[in-house]
Amino acid sequence: MKLNSDFRRPLLFLSVFLGGVIAQSSTASSPASTASATVAPQAIYNGGYQDATETLLRIANGGAGQSGMVEAFANAFIKYSVGKGSKPFSVSWILGDTTQSLGFIAAKQADIALTYSAAAENQSIASGASVKKELAFVDHFYLVGPKSNPAQLMDNDSVSDVMNKIVMSGNADVAKPPSDRPATRFLSRYDKSATNIKESELFISIGQVPWAYTYSTWYHQYPRFPLQALEAASVLSEYTLTDRGTWLSSAASVTDKLVIYQGAKNITTTTTDDKGNSAVLLNPCTAVLAATTTNKEISDSFMDWLVSKDGGQQVVKDFQKNGQQLYTPASS
Ligand SMILES: *[C@@H]1O[C@H](CO)[C@@H](O)[C@H](O)[C@H]1NC(C)=O
Ligand SMILES: *[C@@H]1O[C@H](CO)[C@@H](O)[C@H](O)[C@H]1NC(C)=O
Ligand SMILES: *[C@@H]1O[C@H](CO)[C@@H](O)[C@H](O)[C@H]1NC(C)=O
Repeated sequence: MKLNSDFRRPLLFLSVFLGGVIAQSSTASSPASTASATVAPQAIYNGGYQDATETLLRIANGGAGQSGMVEAFANAFIKYSVGKGSKPFSVSWILGDTTQSLGFIAAKQADIALTYSAAAENQSIASGASVKKELAFVDHFYLVGPKSNPAQLMDNDSVSDVMNKIVMSGNADVAKPPSDRPATRFLSRYDKSATNIKESELFISIGQVPWAYTYSTWYHQYPRFPLQALEAASVLSEYTLTDRGTWLSSAASVTDKLVIYQGAKNITTTTTDDKGNSAVLLNPCTAVLAATTTNKEISDSFMDWLVSKDGGQQVVKDFQKNGQQLYTPASS
């Protein structure tokens, strides 16, 4: 990963706190600079067919790969295809956030990208790198933070109330550091991921740009993948934006120290949160089909299967983490 010198200092500082977590994430799962060389898959799935050798479908994604959703799609789709007469084949998962995944499509290193930014997806289609997109499932953003709740977020706060309180309390704590509680800090993914884009939109919507020079010191820039970022927020008692998939995929030791302050815990509806508010914290995941694919028939078939009620949508419905359904199907 490319880090400018502004990043290095806080990361070195953090590594004192997080030790092994940093060491592991900086080798195995940090966002790699991947533009030219052929990217190595994070995992290869064969649907249980040990004789499947040829990889005919490459799926790029970040969070849903880490949660196991991509694996569930891959294995179910291989079985479905073999059931229809295909020779067993394998499907690879290529690790990348939204920006990277669409980059893999453009570089012809992925056949499908599962991404979370309508504007970026539209741009990929407009550029000719991809040809089609379909809503795959809906994830949900969660604004989470420490139990100590130094910004005093309340149940009846709106999303913009919460963002304003974090900014005000963060600034106040920088001016006069508290001695009896952790200071209010916000951990930013700061990595161009869809979550980073969403958190930036939330700050901009209240007229704030804490990342601008000179950046607000309560705004903690932590460019890592979702699981690592949530773990850091937990260890450091910081607020952050995460998603339900990452939340339920995280160890209890991580989530026990945190509270969900905003976002739908009841995910039966795709249009409102628990309080009936608008869908500002919804995180729709879209499948984007590359113009050039490893195997056109398989890629086209995957797109159709993914949106079908008894295909990919049933896999979404059945996909659970710790006894809870992770994502909302695109259609029910
Ligand atoms: C993306 O394209 C779709 C279909 O053309 C359009 O409805 C939507 O508003 C666009 N979204 C963005 C964010 O550009
Ligand atoms: C929100 O809840 C708090 C505590 O229950 C209460 O004091 C406050 O008046 C409420 N605010 C609004 C706008 O309802
Ligand atoms: C979840 O939302 C559905 C639909 O709005 C509602 O019928 C149900 O009671 C809710 N469940 C919980 C646990 O709040």
